[in-house]
Amino acid sequence: MTVLSQVFEHIDQNKDAHIKSLSDAVAIPSVSAWVTHRGHSLKCAQFFSDRLQALGFSTELRSPPIQHKVEGQIVELPPVILARSANEDPSKKTLLIYGHIDVQPAEKSDGWNTEPFDLTERDGKLFGRGATDDKGPVLAWTNAIEAFQKVGNNPVNARFILEGMEESGSVGLEELLNDMKAKKDSFLQGIDYCVISDSYWLGDTRPCIAYGLRGAIYFLIEIECANQDLHSGCCGSLVHEAMSDLVWMLSQLTDVQGEILVPGIMEKVRALSKEEAATYQGIDFDIPKRRTEMGAPMFIHEKDPARTLQGIWRYPCLSIHGIEGAFSEKGFKTVIPGKAVGKFSIRTVPDMTSEDTQKKVLDYLNDLWKKRGSPNRAVFSSPDAGNWYYADPNSPNYMAARRAMQTVYNVAPNLIREGGSIPITLVLSECTGKDVCLLPIGCSNDGAHSQNEKINVDNYVMGAKVMAAYMQELSDIKP
Ligand code: BES
Ligand code: MN
Ligand code: MN
Repeated sequence: MTVLSQVFEHIDQNKDAHIKSLSDAVAIPSVSAWVTHRGHSLKCAQFFSDRLQALGFSTELRSPPIQHKVEGQIVELPPVILARSANEDPSKKTLLIYGHIDVQPAEKSDGWNTEPFDLTERDGKLFGRGATDDKGPVLAWTNAIEAFQKVGNNPVNARFILEGMEESGSVGLEELLNDMKAKKDSFLQGIDYCVISDSYWLGDTRPCIAYGLRGAIYFLIEIECANQDLHSGCCGSLVHEAMSDLVWMLSQLTDVQGEILVPGIMEKVRALSKEEAATYQGIDFDIPKRRTEMGAPMFIHEKDPARTLQGIWRYPCLSIHGIEGAFSEKGFKTVIPGKAVGKFSIRTVPDMTSEDTQKKVLDYLNDLWKKRGSPNRAVFSSPDAGNWYYADPNSPNYMAARRAMQTVYNVAPNLIREGGSIPITLVLSECTGKDVCLLPIGCSNDGAHSQNEKINVDNYVMGAKVMAAYMQELSDIKP
């Protein structure tokens, strides 16, 4: 029996224990957006640190070198876990694995069928917040490493960077990494390959490997018409309403086809070459199935699968996320909000830059505001931006991942790009001088960020096998 088949067997045999550890991880509500939950973030860091220590890693909980302020108040940032094997073998390749252990907010009342922080198995699916984004995949790495240790040795030196702020824009991590780089911290030295398992297959049958991510830039429109909320009977027609101004502004951002109305926004978008156009042809993507799962009436490019994929992968998009100050409960409240804050984001693609995009959008908002002619106080800003990432799917790192998928699933993976963002990817690549392989183990219908988030038991188990096979493949790469 080869080492790898023994490793696979170990992963199969320990399925229940691996599910139990996912259940323990999900039970810690490490919601980075809930500032009051920082105690849970810390507890979660401790949990993953313990898991890694049990596998012989030496771990360090490092605080990012910045102060984090939320509404003027300094709040503690969760630590970043840096882990490496206590006795790295210099003759082996070194793999850096990044993941995040924070999660999106969740409450049963949002429409979950089960308690979000109580992992529940049903029909071969494990439901719980973080099951697929990203606690399941992070634990799958540890399951793969555990298996190698049980049957022999890990073929590579694995190192981990696990953060607790990804879902809130990875606050502090870029500063920490750049600081470590400037100080020539040994943790970032000697890394041969980087990998992230924090994305999803395109469907739920064919495994995928991703070689691109979009960037994300946030924008805020703050409009104030009074220093407090007003009675709409007493004050309607007295003031220029902030909410009306805001909704008018928001309505000028995109047209009905989703095209962004900001002038010049497409200028830097890389032209679609013949070669690239050809890559969309062989991809398994079932539009009616995906749409029916989502319950959407029609996709924008319904009849054109290639254009639909290009829309997610290689063109920018603008989404409106919410309005602070809006009355959103049930029933009626005849109020004029004194202040309204609109939030939207733009996903960026090669070769857009954050600075250029921010400038174009803010200029456009200022022009719109002039056109509106409202006397209200208005502030437009862009508080955060993360870069897109694009890699060569034929690099040695990617080829190893492709062979690993083939070994485990007996089929060549679909090579895809992603519409989502993992802001630290480019920074990791720059700090290590290596490309970052995006190796998803979950499915498109896992419902990351949504109600009833899940990972399939099969994906969790097979995912660990892919990771093991990938580490084996990396160790076999000839210099
Ligand atoms: N796991 C996602 C990234 C992702 C989403 C990859 C969809 C592929 C497809 C990650 O946890 C995430 O949610 N990222 C945020 C980043 C944002 C906070 C800057 C996102 O994409 O919205
Ligand atoms: Mn994630
Ligand atoms: Mn996420």
